[in-house]
Amino acid sequence: MMNEKLENAFNDQINAEFYSEYFYLAMYAYFERMNLQGFKNWMNVQMQEEHAHAMGLFNYVHERGGKVVLKTIEQPKTDWNSPLEVFEDILKHEQLVTSKINALTDVADEVKDRAAVSFLDWFIKEQVEEEANVGNVLKTLKLVCGDAQCLYMLDKELAARTFTAPVIG
Ligand code: FEO
Repeated sequence: MMNEKLENAFNDQINAEFYSEYFYLAMYAYFERMNLQGFKNWMNVQMQEEHAHAMGLFNYVHERGGKVVLKTIEQPKTDWNSPLEVFEDILKHEQLVTSKINALTDVADEVKDRAAVSFLDWFIKEQVEEEANVGNVLKTLKLVCGDAQCLYMLDKELAARTFTAPVIG
């Protein structure tokens, strides 16, 4: 059984991860409009990652005998002025997700649910990787990519990203 406060906190995180999927889908649509296929691919992989995160938490709540409650997903932003602005928003978003995962782990700790703390360790490590991935693209966009040719090259690079289903927990 899961403590009620912890179950609520897990359900909030499930919502945050499904929102993340939606957030990247909005960016996928933006890059489709821009005809930047590599950036679009990067968003597509990220959407699948977020879906896997949401489902990992979803399955864990069930595994622990808890109840999943799906909450309303907020409408994401739909327009940006540049790919740089998109990645600035992504970094801010992932930093927010990191703080939410930390807060969820704090609740698991507070209710002394050691199994949940151990499970959430995977997400803590994953957030380090997520922020690093985003940070790398952002650095290139900020420091190197000042013209259309560079953007074209970066688009080609981002087209190579592939999705591998994560083993969560
Ligand atoms: Fe599921 Fe990007 O955090």
